Amino acid sequence: MRFTSLLSLFLVASAASLVAASPTPQSNPGDVDSEYDYVIVGSGAGGGPLACRLAMAGFKTLLIEAGGDANGNVNVSVPGYQAVVTQDPKLRWDIFVNHYKDQNRAKRDPKYTYEVGPYQYHVGPNPPPGAKEKGILYPRGSMLGGCVTHNALIWIIPHARDFDLIATLTGDNSWIANNMNKYLDRVLTWLPTEPTDPTILLRDLPLAQHLVGGASAAGVSVPLLTPLVNLGNLLLNSPNNRALPNRDAYEGYFQVPLTMKGGTRMAVREHIQRTVEAGFPLTVQTETFVTKILFSNATDPSTKPRATGVEFLKGAYLYKASPFYHPSNAAAGRGTVRAKREVIISAGTFNTPQLLKLSGIGPRAELQRFNIPVVKPLPGVGTNMMDRYEISVNVKHPEDFNVLDGCHFDLKPHDKCLTQWLTKPDILAARGAYTPDIDLSIFGGPLNFQGYFPGWHDFAVRDHKHFSWYSLKAHTRNRAGTVELRSADPLDQPLINFNYFDEGTREGGADELDARALVQAIRQSREALKAYYKYPILGGTPWTEEKPGPDVQTDEEIKQYIKDEAWGHHAACTCPIGTDDNEMAVLDSEFRVRGVDGLRVVDASIFPDIPGIFIQSAIFMISEKAADVIIQEAKNETKRMF
Ligand SMILES: Cc1cc2nc3c(=O)[nH]c(=O)nc-3n(C[C@H](O)[C@H](O)[C@H](O)COP(=O)(O)OP(=O)(O)OC[C@H]3O[C@@H](n4cnc5c(N)ncnc54)[C@H](O)[C@@H]3O)c2cc1C
Ligand SMILES: *[C@@H]1O[C@H](CO)[C@@H](O)[C@H](O)[C@H]1NC(C)=O
Ligand SMILES: *[C@@H]1O[C@H](CO)[C@@H](O)[C@H](O)[C@H]1NC(C)=O
Ligand SMILES: *[C@@H]1O[C@H](CO)[C@@H](O)[C@H](O)[C@H]1NC(C)=O
Repeated sequence: MRFTSLLSLFLVASAASLVAASPTPQSNPGDVDSEYDYVIVGSGAGGGPLACRLAMAGFKTLLIEAGGDANGNVNVSVPGYQAVVTQDPKLRWDIFVNHYKDQNRAKRDPKYTYEVGPYQYHVGPNPPPGAKEKGILYPRGSMLGGCVTHNALIWIIPHARDFDLIATLTGDNSWIANNMNKYLDRVLTWLPTEPTDPTILLRDLPLAQHLVGGASAAGVSVPLLTPLVNLGNLLLNSPNNRALPNRDAYEGYFQVPLTMKGGTRMAVREHIQRTVEAGFPLTVQTETFVTKILFSNATDPSTKPRATGVEFLKGAYLYKASPFYHPSNAAAGRGTVRAKREVIISAGTFNTPQLLKLSGIGPRAELQRFNIPVVKPLPGVGTNMMDRYEISVNVKHPEDFNVLDGCHFDLKPHDKCLTQWLTKPDILAARGAYTPDIDLSIFGGPLNFQGYFPGWHDFAVRDHKHFSWYSLKAHTRNRAGTVELRSADPLDQPLINFNYFDEGTREGGADELDARALVQAIRQSREALKAYYKYPILGGTPWTEEKPGPDVQTDEEIKQYIKDEAWGHHAACTCPIGTDDNEMAVLDSEFRVRGVDGLRVVDASIFPDIPGIFIQSAIFMISEKAADVIIQEAKNETKRMF
């Protein structure tokens, strides 16, 4: 079998320049009208680009976002702080999920977390008495731009098969990859991406030694005596080169571009800001939490319900997943807004199904259990959840990597990396490579990365002696994840079960195949670590493997490690597009929620299958596609009227 592996250097160094604080694209509550053409809930990868496009087409558009605007927060703008920012309590939601429903099994993961006080956590075994079981932290951002404003900025375009599959499934040929290319072109009109500076490697040869080891293990020929020359050339390639006829299976060593400009994070948040500043009819309402979609004709079963608007609460940190949640936060009031044309839900993989269910769209029995009046029974809402599986190999050196000299990641004057970032806006933040493969991407970097848990960033950079190869299985087979209501309170986080491996999809040995691919990933990471010793010319010191550790050698032992400790962070597919005859399909191929009028979903939850390697590119593309479909339909209606 051929496989593609992506080796990239996650240099948690520092890059970019401080953007002068520009005006926040937020209107005062008083400025909000009571009626818009389109009302969009959620300003992330799905909702943000769509809102901009609808406004640019002249439609009066309201974009509602639960979080605030992180404008001017250095945690957001410095790419090197992409891990720090996920811990920022102003911006994060502490969502907890189950990898396994069986809690005893779940606790085999050292990342299993307990609550010991409000938003105070104990991670790992031996919790203090009275600690409450929470599960596994799933990082989420709530702010203008959604998770895109705190993500790792990695920009890799989806595979052709991701879209061709939707075309085949639905018979809607507008989804064919060749046609989807035009939406990628539209994304690139507002999204800057940048490679990073390869000379970083010259500043830390032992670190470069790991990278060349990785290249060598991936089958790239790297001369033993002049390894850097070759590596430097290889890293000039981009994994996103659409001109390569077989890009999706291309063997090579590529760098990973980031969504930034001049070394400063720039993506959806800034696109929204520019669209408002350009005077298009876009109103952005931050710190506003939507609790319900409103329908007309919802009670008479002989009529088709129509979404007419939404109900919301006004205030910051209203959702209980926010560490700053307090019951008094909602004091700023509540209200409703009408959508003349449509309501579009873009609240993300967890919140979109939650909001649909709270509004009466979902599995009938579940809605009835919480006394929610059924508007339209749709059994597929909150099912079919997919994610990547990710796993790491972590080693420790006796000495520090000097590329991290002076990096404290704390924004204080002693943080030389920040000082360097402030004065030299073009240093590398991440860089990588690409090779043949089975859908595995392998990233490397000078940090101790073992997945997400409260304080994961502090742990990852506690010292500068660790190096991690971290693997991501892109197209997993498990679609057994669910998002269910915990209560009828819209401010409670839902119950999220991923049902990993043998607890999930098993047809055709799906669970075994996924686990086996990850075993291969661990073995390949170890090959890379072995190949490190082929390049002593770069002067690196010997490492010791801490995780999985020397005791984990056989396939069975490695598989157990994977089942215990794997994680993901690209959850998707909870409101899947599907065919008319599939009762589990939530959307039609034009993003419409089945069985109701005036309501669509546009975010990570729409995919029938998880796309690509890194998911934001695919979401940006479907956001542009949704805008096209919606605008086209509106134009058709106008034509019919005259
Ligand atoms: C730590 C981390 C790193 C990542 N790194 C990468 C990466 O490097 N590359 C990549 O391609 N992908 C990455 N991702 C994934 C990617 O960022 C997300 O998958 C993507 O942003 C999801 O888009 P979305 O539109 O579905 O939801 P989101 O971007 O999560 O946006 C949803 C928005 O809706 C708002 N909202 C939710 N409920 C309500 C409500 N009831 N009322 C009002 N507003 C509401 C939320 O506050 C949020 O802002 C990363 C994700 C995380 C968490
Ligand atoms: C950045 O995030 C950290 C948490 O990781 C937080 O302590 C700090 O206050 C944040 N900085 C800013 C400028 O908000
Ligand atoms: C409600 O249903 C009736 C009958 O089908 C229809 O004429 C009317 O337009 C519907 N109202 C709305 C707001 O959709
Ligand atoms: C709009 O009308 C055109 C031409 O009649 C048709 O091909 C297209 O499918 C319609 N689009 C939508 C979104 O209704």
